[in-house]
Amino acid sequence: MSRSQPVDRGLTKSATFLVFSVVPTDDSIRAVRGVVSSVPDITKNISIRDLDANLTCVVGIGSRVWDSITKLPRPAELHPFPEVRGAKQTAVSTPGDLLFHIRAERRDMCFEMERQLIDKLGDAVRLEDHTTGFRYLDARDLLGFVDGTANPVGGDVVDAVVVSESDNGINATSVGGSYVVVQKYLHDLKAWKMLSTKQQEAIIGRTKLDNIEIDDAEDGQQQAHKTLATIKDASGGEHAILRDNMPFGSPSTGEYGTYFIAYSRRLWVVEKMMERMFLGHPPGLHDRILDFSTAITGSTFFAPSLKSLEAIGDEK
Ligand code: HEM
Ligand SMILES: *[C@@H]1O[C@H](CO)[C@@H](O)[C@H](O)[C@H]1NC(C)=O
Ligand SMILES: *[C@@H]1O[C@H](CO)[C@@H](O)[C@H](O)[C@H]1NC(C)=O
Ligand SMILES: *[C@@H]1O[C@H](CO)[C@@H](O)[C@H](O)[C@H]1NC(C)=O
Repeated sequence: MSRSQPVDRGLTKSATFLVFSVVPTDDSIRAVRGVVSSVPDITKNISIRDLDANLTCVVGIGSRVWDSITKLPRPAELHPFPEVRGAKQTAVSTPGDLLFHIRAERRDMCFEMERQLIDKLGDAVRLEDHTTGFRYLDARDLLGFVDGTANPVGGDVVDAVVVSESDNGINATSVGGSYVVVQKYLHDLKAWKMLSTKQQEAIIGRTKLDNIEIDDAEDGQQQAHKTLATIKDASGGEHAILRDNMPFGSPSTGEYGTYFIAYSRRLWVVEKMMERMFLGHPPGLHDRILDFSTAITGSTFFAPSLKSLEAIGDEK
């Protein structure tokens, strides 16, 4: 099996999310090929300075530039993030050709990776968004709930996240890759804090202090976030995704947010979750997290296998 990029590493203390558009000139595309294919090398060069910091960087490539940058067959499901327009909130679709998901136990290692990437990318890209996330207490989001509990662990991670031979038939180059979806959310913490803990727990579907799952509501009733985000196939099997969400923000400017990032072997699973949250299931009963959270970005990428990523540098 083709080795994947470090998509399966867990949450670290620090993470940086960089989303760029690629300037559409031959020179820019050539420069971008050089940089993305050397990301494993750049990471290695920086991480050697403190191996315990577990520096990693995953590169995702968006639908719009896939064919010009890679020459690899298109991943079967890859397309731009589809806007989902709900009654209360819209899952917006925003520009993004390249994603760099940088993780480390040390903020300065993320900084150094970002610095070297920005230096090398130069004028070939335009910054769409940069977010620096941090671990908050016992891995809580800024709504105060532990985030990431239901993620797959151990051998289930690769099974949930990495495209395998059996998914793809002839498109062998997509094997070892992952779909990646990102959304940057801002929270209205003032309004959230007006709710009682019990009301907040009903919205999330877990207790706040000790993080215990609450029973699902009856069919047809308002469902909790954890229920709306559970996707089952016809035979009742659950399709897990891997979320590496990070809090970000700045109390002095009143900015409080969650950077949502999901890796999946199947893009449709994440999109289905999005529809259930924004449109509601049953329709009309949208996810109440969205009454307190606004998505200000939304982009989809594919993170090719290591071998495919390195091969991009050989394109002429
Ligand atoms: C404002 C943004 C969001 C916040 C603050 C948030 C927070 C949470 C929390 C606290 C949990 C429960 C603990 C856990 O299992 O991790 C959870 C579960 C989950 N969330 Fe979110 N989430 C957000 C957006 C999303 C989005 C956009 C998706 C997918 C499109 C999603 C998918 C999931 C899934 C799959 C679970 C696990 C459900 C289960 O199997 O129990 N979340 N989220
Ligand atoms: C990594 O470090 C080596 C040795 O210093 C250097 O030759 C190489 O160019 C560096 N690679 C990148 C991608 O920065
Ligand atoms: C680094 O990653 C390894 C393997 O995933 C893990 O065992 C170790 O605890 C991590 N180090 C730190 C400082 O978190
Ligand atoms: C293989 O890739 C092509 C595009 O290169 C796509 O049209 C086709 O649907 C893919 N086939 C499978 C089986 O995924």
